[in-house]
Amino acid sequence: MDGRGYLSILFHCAPLLLLLLFVYHCTLAGGQLSPITGDGGGQGRFQTYIVHVQEQTGASNLSVQHSHESFLPNATLDSGEPRIIYSYRHAISGFAAKLTPQDLLAVRAKNGFLLAQADDNTFLFTTYTPVFLALKHWGGLWPESSRGEGIIIGIIDAGIHPHHPSFDGTGMPEPPIKWRGRCDLLPPDSCNNKLIGAAAFKQGRRKPSPVDNSGHGTVTASISAGSFVPGAEVLGNAKGTASGTAPRAHLAIYRAYFGDQGTAVDLLAAVDQAISDGVDVLSMSIGQEPKPLYESSVAMASFSAIRNNIFPCSAAGNFGPMPSILSNDAPWCLTVGATTVDRRIRATVRLGNGMEMDGESAFQPDNFDSNLMLPLVFPGDRGSPEALNCQSCSLKRSAVAGKIVLCVTDQYNNLERSDTVKSAGGAAMILINRLPDGHTTNADPHSLPASHLSNADGQKIVAYIRTTVTPTARLIFKKTQFGARPTPAVAAFSSRGPSLNNGGILKPDVVAPGVNILAAWPTEVGPNPAGNSSSTFNFASGTSMATPHVSGIAAMLKKLHPEWSPAAIKSAIMTTAYTRDGHGNAIADQTGGGNASYFAMGSGQVNPAKASDPGLVYDLKWQDYVPYLCGLGYSNESVAAIVKEETDCSKIKKIKAEELNYPSMALTMRAGESKTIERRVTNVGEEKSRYEKKTEEPEGVSIDVEPERLQFSNLGQTKTFRVKFTAKSGSSRKGEVAEGSLTWISGCYTVRSSISISFT
Ligand SMILES: *[C@@H]1O[C@H](CO)[C@@H](O)[C@H](O)[C@H]1NC(C)=O
Ligand SMILES: *[C@@H]1O[C@H](CO)[C@@H](O)[C@H](O)[C@H]1NC(C)=O
Ligand SMILES: *[C@@H]1O[C@H](CO)[C@@H](O)[C@H](O)[C@H]1NC(C)=O
Ligand SMILES: *[C@@H]1O[C@H](CO)[C@@H](O)[C@H](O)[C@H]1NC(C)=O
Ligand SMILES: *[C@@H]1O[C@H](CO)[C@@H](O)[C@H](O)[C@H]1NC(C)=O
Repeated sequence: MDGRGYLSILFHCAPLLLLLLFVYHCTLAGGQLSPITGDGGGQGRFQTYIVHVQEQTGASNLSVQHSHESFLPNATLDSGEPRIIYSYRHAISGFAAKLTPQDLLAVRAKNGFLLAQADDNTFLFTTYTPVFLALKHWGGLWPESSRGEGIIIGIIDAGIHPHHPSFDGTGMPEPPIKWRGRCDLLPPDSCNNKLIGAAAFKQGRRKPSPVDNSGHGTVTASISAGSFVPGAEVLGNAKGTASGTAPRAHLAIYRAYFGDQGTAVDLLAAVDQAISDGVDVLSMSIGQEPKPLYESSVAMASFSAIRNNIFPCSAAGNFGPMPSILSNDAPWCLTVGATTVDRRIRATVRLGNGMEMDGESAFQPDNFDSNLMLPLVFPGDRGSPEALNCQSCSLKRSAVAGKIVLCVTDQYNNLERSDTVKSAGGAAMILINRLPDGHTTNADPHSLPASHLSNADGQKIVAYIRTTVTPTARLIFKKTQFGARPTPAVAAFSSRGPSLNNGGILKPDVVAPGVNILAAWPTEVGPNPAGNSSSTFNFASGTSMATPHVSGIAAMLKKLHPEWSPAAIKSAIMTTAYTRDGHGNAIADQTGGGNASYFAMGSGQVNPAKASDPGLVYDLKWQDYVPYLCGLGYSNESVAAIVKEETDCSKIKKIKAEELNYPSMALTMRAGESKTIERRVTNVGEEKSRYEKKTEEPEGVSIDVEPERLQFSNLGQTKTFRVKFTAKSGSSRKGEVAEGSLTWISGCYTVRSSISISFT
């Protein structure tokens, strides 16, 4: 008996499962779309399109709407319903409308038309389990003054459950004068100086409710800017004071999700309103499947954000560990991946042969006898795929009653697994990861004694079961423990580069805590996943949870440096990120347990304390992206739709992605080739300062920097330098990737750029 059959199931099923997930999302959202696509009159099929048109400068609101209507054959459908769902003013120049394919042809022929795309699904980037927040371990270094006071974070998400202690406004200052948003759509007494605005967008309907009924929006808002809440816990675990990353920042809520999926037209409407209201930071734990920048609503709306000096922060997605399925990869967005924190809610498994392995579970029963050896069974071993995952109704009572049941996770419905085992009479459950889930485990609030283990540990258990006549195990619950190693490690689910859409910009940009994060949970909207209706905090995992950490950091940087551009803030966060863990080791990847590549962690783990004082920044104005966009080969119309200015790429000196003044560097090279790129840094550290270069050369590539020293005499002064990369000649290294770095060092400042070379 060997483990091969089982291994290959896990291996082959994994990509398939991911694909299925996509399909699942699509089918579901297709269902949601039906009210829009149905025309009710039988005169041809209407679909919702987003239509980008040339900006009309200086137009009044009314004439913008009129101008949008002038693109349409008529203003209303047979039913009397208006064709225009949204007429956008800030997020894009254009509108969302219901059109037949024939209508669309007519629209395309009009003067001023740029491009159109069918409305598309967008997702929330959470895994099933809501999370925990342990900021004191990594973000506690902020001076009192810089907790984001006076800064408004706009949360584009599933709404908010307002009456949670995380959104208490006691002691908060009033919103700044520039704030133009409203808060009257929430129930009375919901709004205060913490929660200053809330709006909702659902296919153009009048006044939908911004109240969260999924939990996701409440979770992300609390991570970003929740107030201090003493005594937070989940089922008695992880007790302590919860706080958002920027606890003095204001929250403005824009709901575009009424379930796990939403659509692009609502997302654009939410950002449109946020820009109009005057937010400073956009926190977007959402996204679409990877797509070209001119089709990505997040990319297009985020460009408008940077033009309005608003910082866009977005999730990389949970499509890992497969390469190159990554969302929100525009160079003007900060793209965030997810890492672990060092807290575990330990549930240890001890096998009959004495082997021990540490897993996790938020349910830690006091009355469970940890000395009790129980029979261990694996109903899915050579059984049905349903039994492998312990899906409902797949387990026979006679086979599992009173036993510990081994189940394989699908990472999305772990709690259903425990319910199935419990209802079939199982005594306990061991949940093991598929191969691609690697070492990423969840502290889930299971309904019976359970432990979630890595794939490596799972394989040991499977081998033990197959080679033992009467396999047994016991579970030992060890409550909340800190100091787990290695920490941080990139979560297996965190989306990986290389991006296929941005011409080679290295993504994600940074990683931040996003596994088992403690966050506010709205008990009033229904039983929480802990099944405990009085627990107001819960654990959640996903790049959805990593993103609001970084949007909170961006809020604090905005407070400290109001004059910094979005690109400068982003540079500060990237060049100060750390690439080693607390023990000096390379940051690990939970997929295989090896070192995380730059395609998993980008510039590294965010370092809030250092980001406030980066020394130098790689700055960009919005105009600097135009030569880059033209260089991608986009049409004049696509570029115009993104930047909201008429553009003639034939008159612009195009640049390659590697030439954009980005804080990381990614190049494609052939053996023997050499390439030189230019970068420009701005002094934001000490007036008079001198920086020396330090390089780590990627294997087989030499790096020459010219000049080798940068001398500054003023703040705001910029210096240009050139980096020459020379790849050794010799045999082809096609498909290989080599990594290195360039760091400018001056006294206490280290300004680091990750360098990634892909050989072609
Ligand atoms: C456009 O509408 C916004 C509110 O929707 C209002 O504040 C603004 O004054 C209007 N602008 C014009 C030019 O009518
Ligand atoms: C508007 O156009 C649609 C299709 O082009 C047509 O079916 C409908 O009757 C028109 N509505 C009005 C009010 O003319
Ligand atoms: C539910 O949570 C509350 C608060 O965390 C706790 O006091 C209570 O014991 C929990 N109830 C159950 C049934 O676990
Ligand atoms: C991981 O990183 C460490 C520290 O940089 C290095 O010594 C080690 O060789 C790396 N391991 C692999 C497999 O690349
Ligand atoms: C952009 O417009 C100019 C002027 O109309 C034209 O010459 C050029 O070919 C266009 N470029 C692209 C990429 O469409």
